Amino acid sequence: MGACLFVSPGYPTEMNFFVRGLAACGVKVVGVGDQPAQALPEIARRALSGYLQVENLWDEAATAEAVRRWAPSVGGIDRVEVLWEPGMILGARLREALGCPGMTVEQTLPFRDKERMKQVIDAAGLRTPRHRRASSEAEVWAAAEAVGYPLIVKPIAGAGSADTYRCADRQELADALLRTRHVKECSVEEFIEGEEFTFDTVCSGGRILFHNCSWYRPKPLVARTNEWISPQTVGLKDLTVPPLQPGIELGRKVLAALGFRDGFTHMEWFLTPKGEAVFGEIGGRPPGARSVDIMNFVCDADLFQGWAEGTTHGRISQDLTRRYNVAHICKRAQGQGVIRRIEGIDRIQRHFGGWLVVNELLPVGAHRRDWKQTLLSDGFLIVRHPELSTCLAMADRIASEVQLHAS
Ligand SMILES: Nc1ncnc2c1ncn2[C@@H]1O[C@H](COP(=O)(O)OP(=O)(O)OP(=O)(O)O)[C@@H](O)[C@H]1O
Ligand SMILES: [Mg+2]
Repeated sequence: MGACLFVSPGYPTEMNFFVRGLAACGVKVVGVGDQPAQALPEIARRALSGYLQVENLWDEAATAEAVRRWAPSVGGIDRVEVLWEPGMILGARLREALGCPGMTVEQTLPFRDKERMKQVIDAAGLRTPRHRRASSEAEVWAAAEAVGYPLIVKPIAGAGSADTYRCADRQELADALLRTRHVKECSVEEFIEGEEFTFDTVCSGGRILFHNCSWYRPKPLVARTNEWISPQTVGLKDLTVPPLQPGIELGRKVLAALGFRDGFTHMEWFLTPKGEAVFGEIGGRPPGARSVDIMNFVCDADLFQGWAEGTTHGRISQDLTRRYNVAHICKRAQGQGVIRRIEGIDRIQRHFGGWLVVNELLPVGAHRRDWKQTLLSDGFLIVRHPELSTCLAMADRIASEVQLHAS
């Protein structure tokens, strides 16, 4: 049996854990990436049986050719894994170049292109926001007429809510257009009111082996445009409650419509005030920003390993009983420059004891991160509790009482 090629095994950090999981399942894993082998984190390095460094990973043709030439030296490659959004198409091209099974470029495109995604889902009769593709200002104006206000303009292949704007009227759309001149192609969508949730899965052969719903507090677009907010993602213990059912149902149908078979998926959906679920977007990969850790804390499990086992052997043998509600809270310092003081954390630690399971706030002396560029901002805390109301109250206390000061 040949090896499994893992794209970018050392970056982002989570990739390490997926690589380790695969090796623990008895899979021979080799990697391709643009980091030098010596720069790979220890965890990935130990799990890899080979590594090819390429100069420009994103030059798909050159990377495919380099991997094809290298493959015999590692005993052949018969599987390709990518769990990072920018590499999804590259992974599909590598599969095609190496003759490996799994998602092709054609099957991957609807996961990357927000218009194609919604066309496939519309065709299955599922509820998406009204939408149009636009690649010029004139097309945006025409799309806006068709879609109506309020609307959302966002890049076709966006991430991290970058260049995404809500426009209540023509004036706001004109302003948004000025700010998105550099975006080549965008999606114009009906704005959906309501709360926003995820539907995440690990699948094997088209079967869902594990699923999760998390709740964004507040909606990512709001969190990403107001620096004072401490964005929360709350992994929900009880997925049987009535408000989640339309979203879970929608999620299952979306996966079927897209023909998804093996691996992690991450869908975002809206729950409207009327209780209807509306599709947001989907990735054929796990959620980023440490969200797999959230699921792990919900179940006291290791879904990095679970993913590896599920996609290799078609089952997950860990106990995946949901035991906790888990809130992940990102903090953003006040002021610019270096973090000088962290207020309130001692009291929180004393009060919450063992319910506070992670403290990855940047330490005093560290330079602030750019909150627009990184979802994790100046670090994060994770709390959990069997009762949802207690978990939310703890998260809100962290949001208001823990303050980082920079200068
Ligand atoms: N049609 C819509 N109606 C209401 N809000 C929307 C709509 N489209 C996008 N948004 C808001 O903008 C955010 C970003 O949009 P979307 O998830 O499509 O893009 P993204 O940049 O790929 O996201 P991510 O931050 O998950 O990488 C959403 O999480 C949601 O809060
Ligand atoms: Mg999104």
